[in-house]
Amino acid sequence: FSWKLEDYSKLEKGKIIALIVLDGWGEANPDQYNCIHVAETPVMDSLKKGAPDRWRLVRAHGKAVGLPTEDDMGNSEVGHNALGAGRIYAQGAKLVDLALASGKLYDGEGFSYIKESFETGTLHLIGLLSDGGVHSRLDQLQLLIKGASDRGAKRIRVHILTDGRDVLDGSSVGFVETLENDLSKLRETGVDAQIASGGGRMYVTMDRYENDWGVVKRGWDAQVLGEAPYKFRSAVEAVKKLREGPKASDQYLPPFVIVDEDGKAVGPIVDGDAVVTFNFRADRMTMLAKALEYENFDNFDRVRFPKIRYAGMLQYDGELKLPSRYLVSPPEIERTSGEYLTYNGVRTFACSETVKFGHVTFFWNGNRSGYFNAEMEEYVEIPSDSGITFNEQPLMKAVEIAEKARDAILSRKFHQVRVNLPNGDMVGHTGDIEATIVACKAADKAVKIILDAIEQVGGIYVVTADHGNAEDMVKRDKKGEPLLKDGKIQILTSHTLQPVPIAIGGPGLAPGVRFRKDVPEGGLANVAATVMNLHGFVAPSDYETTLIEVVDE
Ligand code: 3PG
Ligand code: CO
Repeated sequence: FSWKLEDYSKLEKGKIIALIVLDGWGEANPDQYNCIHVAETPVMDSLKKGAPDRWRLVRAHGKAVGLPTEDDMGNSEVGHNALGAGRIYAQGAKLVDLALASGKLYDGEGFSYIKESFETGTLHLIGLLSDGGVHSRLDQLQLLIKGASDRGAKRIRVHILTDGRDVLDGSSVGFVETLENDLSKLRETGVDAQIASGGGRMYVTMDRYENDWGVVKRGWDAQVLGEAPYKFRSAVEAVKKLREGPKASDQYLPPFVIVDEDGKAVGPIVDGDAVVTFNFRADRMTMLAKALEYENFDNFDRVRFPKIRYAGMLQYDGELKLPSRYLVSPPEIERTSGEYLTYNGVRTFACSETVKFGHVTFFWNGNRSGYFNAEMEEYVEIPSDSGITFNEQPLMKAVEIAEKARDAILSRKFHQVRVNLPNGDMVGHTGDIEATIVACKAADKAVKIILDAIEQVGGIYVVTADHGNAEDMVKRDKKGEPLLKDGKIQILTSHTLQPVPIAIGGPGLAPGVRFRKDVPEGGLANVAATVMNLHGFVAPSDYETTLIEVVDE
């Protein structure tokens, strides 16, 4: 095996390439719920209209990105994994399905480890409660609860995080009812099983990339210490009540604990307990995993650090080996394009703002944190605004990201300048259509800043996206018509199943380069080989094929 890539003789080496990922930017029919269509986006429009054989769509959902079914919408983890790794890996969702179906999950080291607490301790399950399939899935949680109780767990406490971001807002009530129902059936068989605490995913526990440790602390207080501003006797009641406020939403429910008739929390985490974080996706569980696992920890005052047996559903960070115990092995994403390029003289700059920073670094590099080779790479994180919902600031840091990219391009120190522009996705998830339109316009303007720099240095651009979101903001029926509930449309806060655009161009692009016609099913995983070609290299033979060809003009 060798890291040396073969030369791609048809294209010159050493060009400066801007690689722009518009987060949550899919292609859909133009209508009033398509914020990209409604927004003024002259730059993206011109890429589409400009050169027909230099703009196309690629698949960004379902099997094309390693998800279990074609009904699975794309997401940033699997999208950036595919973009960076150039191959399609069975992803967390799928690996957990297989491990549960075969029963292998229960034979593994991770499960044996937590099982040792079943006799005398409580099993706590912490994670996102929905069927979104992006971070976790309800049916997997149900199987895990059953599997653990069949194997001796006598006391189970579930700490739920309500969703409303990968699924419709308001759906939390139904998910909690389903879980409550399961747990009450389990209680009839003699297992002491209950929901112990909860809160909205964006306000409690599921922060990412260390944007706001306060989020994780709120969860810790409820889950571990059994303390929260709201106390209820049942989780269904909790979610229904907390949703009553005019601005309340599943994503942002405040933390609550479930208490017994004496007002005592039913499920704090104590010495001797077992804990499983049942999300398979890494980014929004890593911070809690650190709090649960690290002896030395100063991101917030844990007050109590219980001696527990902790396992993640997956290992979330391969470089940090975090957590050290896990129930299912993560996809072995190796030999990513980023790593290859460092061995082949390609200098890389990557940048985004905090909320998406790990997407163009950690996810891009196969869920691995840090540099491959610090001499060849520079990653810059622009601090995100924290403590706000992004419809309040739809411009986000798009201009700042673009200016950093511009400066990196003009410095001529790098061959690849890679950014993620978060606006379409982060504002799209709020469900605020007006703000999402502003967000799309802002992302388009940022693209312009970067393309102008590429123009100046005679470089090449590749503009694409990781999955859809802002192009469709309404729940639809099978025919594609908005689905009405009580006469009203239902806002779609989640991602979509739509394909995403990819455009190539710039003064440095050889005239004969165009998209091949024989890869109609091309997806995000085909982008890595394409970019390697543009850097002047042939991609490794096991990579998904390139999207481009070079014809004689
Ligand atoms: C989130 O974590 O914000 C959503 O569940 C998915 O969004 P992303 O895949 O675009 O990060
Ligand atoms: Co998203």
